[in-house]
Amino acid sequence: MIRVLFVCLGNICRSPSAEGVFRALVNEQGLSDRISADSCGTSTWHIGSPPDNRARGEAKRRGISIDGLRARALKPDDFDIFDYILAMDSSNLLNLEATCPDVHRVKVRLLLEFAPGHPEREVPDPYYGGAEGFAQVFDMIDAAAAGLLADIQRRHLGN
Ligand code: 4NP
Repeated sequence: MIRVLFVCLGNICRSPSAEGVFRALVNEQGLSDRISADSCGTSTWHIGSPPDNRARGEAKRRGISIDGLRARALKPDDFDIFDYILAMDSSNLLNLEATCPDVHRVKVRLLLEFAPGHPEREVPDPYYGGAEGFAQVFDMIDAAAAGLLADIQRRHLGN
């Protein structure tokens, strides 16, 4: 199993959205027995909470449900367990790098590295903005999801 972990600050907006979108793509491609997705936050602020209503609404508009997800914080084991540890922004990336053992450092990347044609490098924090920020977050996740899947298939599944 190839394991992907999406990481943001609160684990209630961006990373559960990415988990939901990517899991739906993996299911669609019939690869759920080969690839798994999870998400977490670098903070402990929202542990146990479902995704933000605005993220759940945007997910629903796009035909997926993230209602059942619950926020959790990054834990030291995550660096061993996951093959891809993908930060939404540079602040999340710095937080990850601060605790990541050197041997696992290569797993830690920005999500938008998998959307090479995209003008942005970071998925911005939508928490203090309006609904349009969430639509933008989902568009950016969509832009990276296919590239991420292609990278996994090429590097790990021999396609
Ligand atoms: P996320 O968004 O990192 O995409 O889940 C945030 C959620 C909560 C807060 C900040 C960002 N907060 O300050 O509580």
